[in-house]
Amino acid sequence: MCGIVGYIGTQAATEILLSGLEKLEYRGYDSAGIATIWEGELNCVRAKGKLYNLRSKIEQQENSSAIGIGHTRWATHGKPEEYNAHPHMDMAGRVAVVQNGIIENYRELREQLKAQGHEFVSETDTEVIPHLVAQFIKEEKALADDNSDNIFFEAVRKVANELKGAFANAVICADYPDELIAVRQQAPLVIGFGQGEFFCASDTPAIVSHTRAVLPLENGEMARLTPLGVEVYNFAGVRQRKQVRMLSLSPTMVEKQGFKHFMLKEIYEQPGVVRACLDAYFNPEGDNAAISPISLGLAEELYAELEQIQIVACGTSWHAALVGKYLIEQLANIPTQVQYASEFRYAPAPLTANTLTIGVTQSGETADTLAALGMEKERRQGREPKYQARLMGITNRPESSLGHMVPHIINTLAGIEIGVAATKTFTAQLMAFYALALDLAARRQTISRDRLEEIINDLRHIPKEIESTLESQEKLTEHLAHDFAETQDFIFLGRGINFPIALEGALKLKEISYIHAEGYPAGEMKHGPIALLDAKVPVVAIATTGSVYEKVISNAQEAKARDSRLIGVTPVNQGEAADVFNDMIPVSEVDELLSPLLTVVPMQLLAYHIAARRGLDVDQPRNLAKSVTVE
Ligand code: M6R
Repeated sequence: MCGIVGYIGTQAATEILLSGLEKLEYRGYDSAGIATIWEGELNCVRAKGKLYNLRSKIEQQENSSAIGIGHTRWATHGKPEEYNAHPHMDMAGRVAVVQNGIIENYRELREQLKAQGHEFVSETDTEVIPHLVAQFIKEEKALADDNSDNIFFEAVRKVANELKGAFANAVICADYPDELIAVRQQAPLVIGFGQGEFFCASDTPAIVSHTRAVLPLENGEMARLTPLGVEVYNFAGVRQRKQVRMLSLSPTMVEKQGFKHFMLKEIYEQPGVVRACLDAYFNPEGDNAAISPISLGLAEELYAELEQIQIVACGTSWHAALVGKYLIEQLANIPTQVQYASEFRYAPAPLTANTLTIGVTQSGETADTLAALGMEKERRQGREPKYQARLMGITNRPESSLGHMVPHIINTLAGIEIGVAATKTFTAQLMAFYALALDLAARRQTISRDRLEEIINDLRHIPKEIESTLESQEKLTEHLAHDFAETQDFIFLGRGINFPIALEGALKLKEISYIHAEGYPAGEMKHGPIALLDAKVPVVAIATTGSVYEKVISNAQEAKARDSRLIGVTPVNQGEAADVFNDMIPVSEVDELLSPLLTVVPMQLLAYHIAARRGLDVDQPRNLAKSVTVE
């Protein structure tokens, strides 16, 4: 959470920082600020609320400073008010700091500083940093000769060693106007290299319109950016030799391209995402070898003697993991547990032998998921071989912290997702699970060659099936949104492999429309939640053909008998389905196992249109952030 950006070079920093922050707003958007060094002074401007508030404040200023730092905030410590917005400064207003993360020992540090006469003006943990930097600069100056060009850097390095927690910082000081120091510890930070200009940012979209040459810092590293270049050191002060690499992201990937919202654009990108996954994970169509999947590139030792799989994830990724469990158990016959990462951390299942642990996180930065994987690795260290950790990640950001943490990654290839509500990355996670489950099934020969071939062939038709229904589903869901924009409660029902899709439909609606929604296994309604139903509570039921179709229709009848308006997501438009559903959103008829790839799309569209109709900020819903890097 929170996005930080920094610039040093030859151009006016302000616009570069503001446009960088626009690309990072998905990380938090309750307040924003920038600090530059102008005419020997720090110029710090902050504003509560969205970035346009900051922009309108800044537009009234004349300032062509070529160095600055910026921040967009998701509040952790202290309310989302201007006085808590970053950058934070020391008492003399000479040092400015932006931070993404949490300083766990800030209370002790604050007390120590207070005892030394420091006064604080915010409720944040971050504010201790500029105070400490200023303090150490004073101490360094007393020690070193006044011309030492290392004082500012050394002061920030000392501070980095004092801090506990997960943080990424950018720091500038009015007394050292040609230096910007960037620090990384357990929170992402990337350095960008332009022509005589250098950048740092929490994520690459903030800088990709200026440069594609980047260097992600590692934990415990800090970079000194000057107009002449970038030097990277570890926290002990030892210079590090690093390799710059080129981004594949292009500036147009982070534009709306004619869509009203990123979320809608991303929903429409799903056929392309499925195609990209098919191309990457499976051998080419027509190639006989294609029958045996799969070029996941995972090491043999990961599979050897596998007895059990456990998956840790949060939010939408957790829903994808539930579909994954279904696929792995049904296709590869391996017992699979799915845990909320935030729960698993503190109450892990007893250790089992020959267990693969998979972390699913689109951002690769979710603190709970990373911590759960870290805990799993630690508790298995030093154990006999069959108990040793086998870790794997499924992520859309292989360069993320997750990518550094686990030895095996399935890259979900969805391209950058800007809308805070996950859509195309969910579909891509499902594709990763299809590939993994089929790979396991092929290796263990738990399904026949014919069945394997049939599923892979059917998967190849999915992009066309999504394309062919998108337009009609969009019209229908837009129409339904008109009726339901003022509804207060929704129920989503599914069974079997579509139960997680009901959960996902409810989550999408909750997070962007602020309407209360529950996802339920259709057969469980009669055990309690049916008491909620009346004419004011619509029910969305996923009724695809297959093992549970009749059961879902019966459960829908039970809801209808309680006066609920029934919306069916179904390929069937006749018989009992036509009787029970008041409204029908058609999906193509496919193998039940593949149906989640189709049924999730109308869920996303329904949530989207209801939120848009209510006039809400679809891409940046209140209280949320795209990657949740705090516990
Ligand atoms: O980056 P991750 O997949 O680890 O994120 C997990 C959740 O925070 C995320 O899925 C969240 O629930 C989304 N807002 C869902 O749309």
